[in-house]
Amino acid sequence: MKVIAAIDEMTRFSQKLRCDGRTIAFVPTMGFLHEGHLALMTEGKNKADHLVVSIFVNPAQFGPSEDLSTYPRALDQDLEKCRDIGATAVFTPSADDMYPNGHETYVVLEKLPFHLCGLSRPVFFKGVATVVTKLFNIVRPHAALFGEKDFQQLAVIRRLVEDLCFDIEIVGVPIVREPDGLAMSSRNKYLTPKQRPHALLLHRSLTAAQKMVATGESDAGKIVALAREVLTSCADIRLDYVSICDPASLDEIAVVEGAALMAIAVWLGKTRLIDNQMLVPVP
Ligand code: PAF
Repeated sequence: MKVIAAIDEMTRFSQKLRCDGRTIAFVPTMGFLHEGHLALMTEGKNKADHLVVSIFVNPAQFGPSEDLSTYPRALDQDLEKCRDIGATAVFTPSADDMYPNGHETYVVLEKLPFHLCGLSRPVFFKGVATVVTKLFNIVRPHAALFGEKDFQQLAVIRRLVEDLCFDIEIVGVPIVREPDGLAMSSRNKYLTPKQRPHALLLHRSLTAAQKMVATGESDAGKIVALAREVLTSCADIRLDYVSICDPASLDEIAVVEGAALMAIAVWLGKTRLIDNQMLVPVP
């Protein structure tokens, strides 16, 4: 497995694979890899001849009061995991190379960021869209894989790939959960032993909402109210949003009759947690 830090070396490496007629699947990450990332990588290996993983904690997607400096990092263990899974290369650029002095070009979407997480994290999607565009140009993959846990991020990336005419297949991979239902996330590491059981309320509220829908309730207001009640049964949870929305536009919907996404974000102490689930109405 090659570990490549320099942008031009990564591009040459990918270019050579392409010239040899090989296909590339790409999994961009910020490291501190968990089972969710490994599911993306496994799917990537099935999709293409070669798997390239990037590990880069992207400063552009963190707001000034967010956790950039404390974001968990474990490069040696991450490289081991990539090696074990059979990645061909891991790209580990520096922030100075990705955003050198004078960098001033960003990728901004006009509508999708003004929903869900984008409302409380105003720079997040600009940073994600910019770094993913740069990584696509450097790695030049045929397919790229993203987790459905970050549903809005996946929607943003699908949109930018279409709008900017990237010839890249975007593959969404289902959420990977701990055995007790907690969605895997690098930020779960921040949870204290006291907070960890409270974090289960996210999945529990989604399950309660789905049960309500399965028994015939279609009023989104009532379903959201139930989910909020489940979440706020814990005094330590601070709600950011509980939303039922159209999975493509992310616009809120009032009646659950077709495809509907329920998405949640909460603060548990200093840790922000998100989760989501498609609601399936009775046929
Ligand atoms: O989902 C993540 O880990 C990041 O947002 C991504 C896509 C690697 C961009 O920095």
